[in-house]
Amino acid sequence: MKTYKQICNTLEDTKLLAEKFAKLIKDGCFINLYGEIGAGKTAFVKLVADALDVKEKVTSPSFVILNEYHTGSIPIYHFDLYRLENEGIKTIYDELREYSEGKQVTFVEWAEFNQNEAPFNHIKINVTYDDNDSRIYEFISVGEDEIIEGLSK
Ligand SMILES: Nc1ncnc2c1ncn2[C@@H]1O[C@H](COP(=O)(O)OP(=O)(O)OP(=O)(O)O)[C@@H](O)[C@H]1O
Ligand SMILES: [Mg+2]
Repeated sequence: MKTYKQICNTLEDTKLLAEKFAKLIKDGCFINLYGEIGAGKTAFVKLVADALDVKEKVTSPSFVILNEYHTGSIPIYHFDLYRLENEGIKTIYDELREYSEGKQVTFVEWAEFNQNEAPFNHIKINVTYDDNDSRIYEFISVGEDEIIEGLSK
C-alpha cells in the first residue's frame, strides 16, 4: 500500500493533478472515490475524462447511477452509488463486477456503499475540503503501487 497526498488550492491545480493521473491510468484502473457532498469527486473524474480525450460533456451520475463514455482513448464508466445506498447496491453488482476487470477506467463515487465489488487491485481517493477552493486529494493504492509512485514523481 502506497499513499500520495496533494493539496490543490485551485481548480487549476486539480486539473494538473488529474492530467498527471490520467497518464498513469491510461491502460485501465478501478478507482473508488470518498468524500462529502461537494468535495470534488465528480470534478476530478471530469478533469481525468477530459485528459483522456472524452468528447462529450462529463456530468454527475448522481441521478442515473452510471454514465459511460466511449469517445476517449479508453472506455470510462462513472458510477455514483449515493442514491442506491446499502440496499439498492445489489441491483448494480453485475455492472460493477463487469467493469472491475479489463481495459477500462471505472470510477465509483460514494464507494462506501459498495462493500463487495471492488477488484483486488484498485485505488482509493479521499477528497477533503473546507470553505474555499482548496481541496486535498489523498490517493491510496491497493495493489496499484506504480500508479501512486508515478504521482509522486
Ligand atoms: N480545487 C478544486 N478542486 C476540485 N473542485 C473544486 C476546486 N475548487 C472548487 N471546486 C468546485 O467544487 C465543486 C465540487 O463539486 P463535485 O460535484 O465535484 O462534488 P462531489 O464530491 O462529486 O459531490 P457529490 O457527493 O454531491 O457527488 C465543483 O463545483 C468544483 O468546481
Ligand atoms: Mg459527484
